[in-house]
Amino acid sequence: MPEPSTTRIDKLLDHPAVADAVADVNLELKERIAYQPPLCEVFKSPFTCLVPDAKYTFEIDKDAHRQLSHIIDNTVQQIEGSRNADEATEANYRRARNIGIVFSGGPSPGGHNVIAGLFDAAMQVNPRTRIFGFLMGPDGIINGDYVALTRELVDRYRNVGGFTMIKTGRTKIDNEKKMSLSRETCKRLDLDALVVVGGDDSNTNAAFLAQEMFEDGIQVIGVPKTIDGDIQVRDARGQVLCAMSFGFHTAARAFSQAIANLCTDASSDVKYWHVCKVMGRVASHLALEVALQTHANMTLIGEDLSDYVDYARLEKAEQEGVVDYTAYGMTLRHLSRVICDAIMDRAAVGKNYGVLVVPEGVLEFINEIQLFIIKFNTIIGNYNKVHDRDFHTAFPTLDDKLEYLRRLVRGIRKDVSYNVWNARDDELFNDIPAFFQEGLLTERDSHGNFQFSQVKTEKVLLDLVKDYLGILKEKGRYKIGIEDKQFAKTMKKGDLDPQRYGPVLFDNWQQARYLMIKKNIISKKTLKTALVNAGFSGDDDPIPAPIEKIYEQSVPKFKTQTHFYGYDGRGSDPTRFDCIYTYNLGQTVFSLIANGATGQMAAILNLEKDFNSWRPIGIPIAPLMHIEERKGKLELVLEKSIVDVNAPAFRVVEALRDKWLAATPGEDHYRHPGPIRFAGNSEENRPITLLLNAMGGHLSAPDEKTAG
Ligand code: FBP
Repeated sequence: MPEPSTTRIDKLLDHPAVADAVADVNLELKERIAYQPPLCEVFKSPFTCLVPDAKYTFEIDKDAHRQLSHIIDNTVQQIEGSRNADEATEANYRRARNIGIVFSGGPSPGGHNVIAGLFDAAMQVNPRTRIFGFLMGPDGIINGDYVALTRELVDRYRNVGGFTMIKTGRTKIDNEKKMSLSRETCKRLDLDALVVVGGDDSNTNAAFLAQEMFEDGIQVIGVPKTIDGDIQVRDARGQVLCAMSFGFHTAARAFSQAIANLCTDASSDVKYWHVCKVMGRVASHLALEVALQTHANMTLIGEDLSDYVDYARLEKAEQEGVVDYTAYGMTLRHLSRVICDAIMDRAAVGKNYGVLVVPEGVLEFINEIQLFIIKFNTIIGNYNKVHDRDFHTAFPTLDDKLEYLRRLVRGIRKDVSYNVWNARDDELFNDIPAFFQEGLLTERDSHGNFQFSQVKTEKVLLDLVKDYLGILKEKGRYKIGIEDKQFAKTMKKGDLDPQRYGPVLFDNWQQARYLMIKKNIISKKTLKTALVNAGFSGDDDPIPAPIEKIYEQSVPKFKTQTHFYGYDGRGSDPTRFDCIYTYNLGQTVFSLIANGATGQMAAILNLEKDFNSWRPIGIPIAPLMHIEERKGKLELVLEKSIVDVNAPAFRVVEALRDKWLAATPGEDHYRHPGPIRFAGNSEENRPITLLLNAMGGHLSAPDEKTAG
């Protein structure tokens, strides 16, 4: 046994080697912070200017025209470098400014570099410019809580994940009071510009702030952020303006690394199905990217499920002379069966393990659940509108909420739209487990979004899967296939003739490499009966040991481990792609501000191509807005972009689905993208979905080289 250390703890802590080993900042982080992302060519010029690009057009909503009149006529602006400017332009470009910046919504890797890019660009043009970081998201603007950003503070967070520097929040500036408080803060700080780094809802906020503060001369610029990858902007003709929000690549790579590790674990220990829920509140972009990165055995894509048609059911109904509308779209029960089929097919070739990826927002695409979500949005929205109290405050427990719903059915509560909720809804809803009921009735976020991250989607699915697998087991369909060689070996070891017993034990004797125990053999009792009926044993004889062993090996146990990937990816240090992307977005923001733009979103064209082809632009936000239902009300918001099942990325996954399920003898096809690294040149340089979707209808491969 080693001698106990007699060194005093204070001495130990003071030792340079110990201090170094336990320091908050390690070598890797120092290297990361010191990295200087390359600049797009235009930003190397002394000035930039904006050039309107008329080739992009939009179909403008009439409400957007009415509500965002000051910024609705904005157009796409190409940012160009310029060496000369007339005196007045130069003076204006170079003047000292006050700029405020806020993070809004969930953290997304790369946000700190947006600040760093903006800070560097602004300081280079005029070191007297002041940049204020609003604290804790939009609340910081409303309450006037901010910090003046210094070089020392900015330097500490370069290329580092999260939004730790100024934090974030989800408050929506959605009423006159919050709007006027925000405006007062901006005026008090004498801001020239406010930068909102956020998702679809936050950029919606940015557009309304730009409208509100237009006459004050305060510019508002948005930046497309969200790991969900659902800000993908195209014009009316489908030309891509923003292919991907920042942070998506990093989160997808972080999830993929962890999930690829689970693929290794699953295929080593061969006893678990790992069920991995990955973030993405509605759109399944992250799950799709994870599928491409890891080749997990099964990945559900919500957008694909909603297109599902049960042709067998349709045909049956047609024969009966009726139309079965329930055959269109996916139900929870049917989805659980699709998953069971995959599990059963793998087990048949000896693989009673695997990895299933479930997008967080999958329920949004399931018929009956979508209906509940819409109904509850309306009921809760109506209640809040009619009463002074918030629905969740008025009915804090699940029982209170269920009682309220029951009263709606009975028509007692006529103050809200009671006809939205009928006896059949109530009956269906009461059929689902309490934890899931609670999830569906959970409070909406401040933007009126359903909070899928609060619902145990994977548990709902797994409970159904387990039930159905139990039924399949009883029917003798869920069994582990026994390799023919192994059967022969076991039998010979016990001095039994495999050729004699094979036809009695297996349905597919001599027809396949993996042998399936007969469907009617579902217990030792039925096994014994089969042996007795074949004349191989008498009623009182025990089952021969080798046969008992083979039988036991064929009986599957369905063991699962569930995982949730989301918050870890949001806090991950950014990939080099995201570092470079966001640093240049920050520079783009400054360029838009210095050139007087407002109501624009910073973006970069050609992200899928070689870094030399990247082109910074400004996208007008107002023309992108459309009307959507939120908290039971119709509101003007920026459209979310969901997975396009006709685009190459999904089609590739669809085509390779069976291969990756690997329900065939032999190895799985798992792929190991490896960890997010900062040094070295072999790290994958951009999202695979981005690369594939850029190929569109034509098949010319994009440039090979990476960013940076
Ligand atoms: P943003 O849209 O704000 O970027 O956030 C997206 C997200 O990461 C979703 O994937 C997830 O459903 C949600 O945030 C979780 O939010 P919360 O932090 O409130 O739990």
